[in-house]
This record gives sequence, C-alpha cells and structure tokens, in this order.
Amino acid sequence: MNPLKIGLFGFGCVGQGLYDILESTKTFPAEVVKICVKNANKPRPLPLSHFTWDSAEILDNPEINLVVELIDNADEAYAIVTEAMRRGKNVVTANKKMVAEHLAELVELQQEMGVSFLYEAAVCGSIPIIRNLEEYYDNELLYSVRGIFNGSTNFILTKMYNEGAAYATVLAEAQQLGFAESDPTLDVGGFDPRFKLTIATAHAYGLFLRPDEILALGIQQISAQDIRFAREKGWKIKLVAQVSKLGDDQIAAYLMPQFVAPADPLHKVDEEYNGVVVEAAFSSKQFFYGKGAGGHPTGSAVLSDISATTYGYRYGYKKRDRINGVQLTQDVVLEVYLRYTHESVLNHLKFNHIRERYYGDGLNYVIGSINLQELIRNKARLAESGASVIALG
Ligand code: HSE
Repeated sequence: MNPLKIGLFGFGCVGQGLYDILESTKTFPAEVVKICVKNANKPRPLPLSHFTWDSAEILDNPEINLVVELIDNADEAYAIVTEAMRRGKNVVTANKKMVAEHLAELVELQQEMGVSFLYEAAVCGSIPIIRNLEEYYDNELLYSVRGIFNGSTNFILTKMYNEGAAYATVLAEAQQLGFAESDPTLDVGGFDPRFKLTIATAHAYGLFLRPDEILALGIQQISAQDIRFAREKGWKIKLVAQVSKLGDDQIAAYLMPQFVAPADPLHKVDEEYNGVVVEAAFSSKQFFYGKGAGGHPTGSAVLSDISATTYGYRYGYKKRDRINGVQLTQDVVLEVYLRYTHESVLNHLKFNHIRERYYGDGLNYVIGSINLQELIRNKARLAESGASVIALG
C-alpha cells in the first residue's frame, strides 16, 4: 500500500485528537504532510514548520492524496472540499453542516471525479452509524432510526437532571471540554443534531432532505420544572432525533426533547454520549452507543474513514436509486407535554385532543395529541413565549 500523504485542514479539538491518534497508530502508514490553520499567531503544540496558512500549499501539492477537513466554518469547508475533489484528491470530513446542506452536489462531484468522499465522524462522533445504515442495513426494512445525536445538549441535560446544575453553567462547561460548537446555539437550538439527522436520513432511506425541512426544537426552553416533572414520573428528558417509515411511501423526521422511560435504551445515554436505536423488520431493535463528541472519539471515526480510502471505499447511495417515490410527510400526530406561561400559546396551538391539564404552583401544562404541522406553524411563538414542548416517547 502506498503511504497516505495527508493534508489536514484545522487543528482544533478534533484535528489534534486525530493527530494524536495517527501518532499512536504507527502501524498505519500515513503521514500528515501539512496542517492548514487560520490563525498564524495562536500557540501550537507542534513546531511551526508543520503548519501553513495558505490552503494552496495543500491543494496544489500533487504528493498529497488525501484531504482531511476538520475546520469549523461550513462555507470555507465547502470551498476546500470541492476544490480538493476537483483536483482528484480523496476527502474525509467531519463537517455535518456542510455535508447536510450540500449532500446532493457533493455526491455528484465525487462521482464525476471518481474519488472517495467520507464523513462518518459528522454523525454521532465515534458511533459507526453511517456506514452501518448504508451497508449493513442496505436491504433491511427499516422502521425507524432514533437517537441522541448531540453530545453537548446531552451533557447539559444530564447535569441539570443529576446535579440540578444551572443551564448556563453546564453549557460553559461543555464549551470548555470541546464538545460544543463555536456557536453553541447550533447545539442547544437543535441545529447540529438536525444536520446529523439529515445525513442519517439520506443513508437510512435514500431521501436527501434539506435540513430546514425537519422540525428542530432545542433545549433552551427546558426548565427545572420540566426536569422535576420528568423525575416524578421516573423519566429523563433527552433531545431525540427521529426518522421513521410510515406506510410504503412516507417518512417522518423531527427532532425535539422527549421524555424517555427506563425501558428505553436511550435512558442510560448520559453525559456527552450518543445513542442510536435502529428498528427494522427482521433484525428487530438494535442499539448503538458511544461518545458523540470530543477529540479522540471523533478522531477515531475520522481515522476509520482515512483507512477506508486506502481500499477505495465510497458510499454507494444505493437506497437513493431505489426510493420509488418515498417522500417526507409532516402530517403526523404526536403525543406531547406543553408547559406554558401565557394562556395565549395554548389558544393558538390546535391540539387534536387534550387528555390532561394542570394549573398551579407557577406550573401550567397540558398533555395531549397534536399534529407535527401545528408545532411547525407555531415554532416561533413557542420560542418567544418560553413554552416547552416535550414529546412522550
Ligand atoms: N457539538 C457537537 C456535539 C460536536 O455536541 O455533539 C460533535 O458533533
């Protein structure tokens, strides 16, 4: 095997994690030729000769046969990745926003250029869910893929639940530990796990959605009252991403906080861990569990993709060719808990049926069934009023 010559973009938490991993796996013949970083003045743990501030030093170097893109900015990542593929280089990336927003065109470019374009690390960190959905479940009748796709919000919810910690304090801790995005709104607003769900949906069902077609409710509105309510029932609150098959030709996808009972495998997924439950006709329920964020866990998924390029592995996107008119529907009825302060929120949301109402002690909530479309229509109103919506799993 020819030794891999890697051009690495980004030397943040995941870039450094990967570098460490490559240093410790000396049996794997790969050399990081250059690392392109943005900030020339930042102190670096390696000699300056390893770094460049000019992307052309990597992209123009014919000796470099693999570009590993681990930067933060999705637009810059897109420019790097597309240019690298146009120059015939294989690409491995962990940039979920870039992949989710440009998947169809990136796949087309990879096919045109005959290169590998891999992104296992973009979804659920160390859990190998993309390759499994693509390859292992290639002919299974998948009923649903449901899971915790964001480590930071799971870390925050765990600390709020176990220690009664304040939201802002734990968010700062998640940032310090390198789990959170540079703009943590992407985590707590549910955007980051929505990118991941978009990518997972393409590999589970062959449907390439735009991220904004999926409702994402984050955890900003989850209060100590909601946590207390969950605790009294013996449940936890988790931010759950879900895509399910409905009948022969429809799927539903959404992301929102859910109450999770002890019998649910997601109940034991705490801290920055992620978990994915795949339910299918023949294999029945299967559960994947592992760290969803952090330098080494995410770097391990990047390493696996790097290794896969050495034997020419590419995602086949087989399900895309076979989808036979499967479409996204938002016409789905969900059972939810709505905690609200202003009665007007409740008046605007058309519940199909309310089965429980509670007023008192500064806590007002209803539990009932509501159409997903109603939640989509009222998303801004819910956010402005501070109301929380939590699905009953
Ligand atoms: N901010 C992301 C998370 C990092 O917390 O899951 C891993 O994608």
